[in-house]
Order: sequence, then structure tokens, then C-alpha cells
Amino acid sequence: METMDALYGRRSVRKYLPEPVPPEKMRALIEAGCRAASALNAQDVSFAVVTDRDKVSEYGERGKRRTLEERRAAGRMSPYIERILTSERSVIFHRAPALIFLFTSPECYSPVEDASLVAGNIMTAAEDMGLGTCWIGLAQGLNGDPDFRKELDIPEDRTLRATITVGYPEIRETVPKEKKPPVIHGWI
Ligand SMILES: Cc1cc2nc3c(=O)[nH]c(=O)nc-3n(C[C@H](O)[C@H](O)[C@H](O)COP(=O)(O)O)c2cc1C
Repeated sequence: METMDALYGRRSVRKYLPEPVPPEKMRALIEAGCRAASALNAQDVSFAVVTDRDKVSEYGERGKRRTLEERRAAGRMSPYIERILTSERSVIFHRAPALIFLFTSPECYSPVEDASLVAGNIMTAAEDMGLGTCWIGLAQGLNGDPDFRKELDIPEDRTLRATITVGYPEIRETVPKEKKPPVIHGWI
């Protein structure tokens, strides 16, 4: 697949087949992520992987609860997000068979930018490999979950920057999502 096909064809996937993603494919995604540019060439982004389905759903529930609590406490809640986070029926990881978490350290010069580039690479590479992904911002509460951190050996100083579901799409959106035309301020 050409790079432009992967970029234009990628859509967030929210319905997955039950098949597991082989470990070598998970590793290939992470390696592709690590090809991303990073400020001062920090290459600081680290990872945790979950392919155990029970753990995926457990972390989904815990992430949902913690994100709800944190957003309420911070007064950062929209009615739409509150509905998702309080609904018994919502499954924030969309029943994906696998997750990739991205972390950065306090030394990282541009952590959000660096992690986002890695995440973008992972999502584009997945499209190329016939896999589906979705970035799950609603899982951010897991950053402060001691059990999650302990079980995945996350060092204390590492901050969760991105959570990506991975799996074989059951429903693949073939129509590109309507994207706004680019806003270009100046072009001299
Ligand atoms: C930072 C970030 C957080 C996101 N969080 C969620 C999320 O919690 N749940 C979800 O289903 N999709 C989430 N998404 C996916 C967006 O909804 C999606 O990218 C957007 O609607 C555009 O659709 P497309 O990815 O198919 O082009 C997130 C995307 C980004 C970049």
C-alpha cells in the first residue's frame, strides 16, 4: 500500500473481529511508531501492551471510572462525555483485542508532540497492515491507576500520553470521513 493510501484510507475503528493480533504485528506497529521524529531527537516514548482480553475490558472499566472522577474534579466535563462515561453500556475500548499505551518521561522536551507523532505512525502503519486502530482519550484516567501501573511495570515518573486500540476491523469505514478543507492562512 502506498503511504498516501494509508493516510487517506485510515479511519478510527470501533468494531473489531475477535481474532487476536499476533505479537510480531504488535511489535511491528511499535517499531514503526519509533521511526517518528522527536524534539531534540529525544526518542523518549515508551510503551505498554495488553493483549489479554479480560485485562482489556478490566482496564477499560477502570479507565472509564477514573477519567470520570478526574474530569468531574477538574470541572472539565461536557454533557456528551459525561453520558459516555456514566453509561453502563459504553465500552471505551470498543471490545478491541489489543491495546498500546504510550508514555513519556519528565525529561522529554516535547512530550505531547513526540507521543502524538509516534501514535500517528502506529495508526498509519496499522492501516497499511490491514489492522484497525482508535486513539482513546477517554482512557487517560488510567495514568493515575496504581494497579494498572504496577501490573504493567510502568516506572513512576512516566506519564501516559496516548492509548490506542488495535485489532482486525469487523466494520471498516470505506468512505473517508468528511474532513474540513485545510485552513491556510498565508502562502507567499
Ligand atoms: C486525542 C484523541 C482522542 C480521542 N479519543 C477518542 C475516544 O476516547 N474514543 C473514541 O472512540 N475515539 C476517540 N478518538 C478518535 C476520534 O473521534 C476520531 O479520530 C475522529 O472522530 C476522526 O475520525 P477518523 O479517525 O475516522 O478520521 C480520539 C482521537 C484523538 C486524536
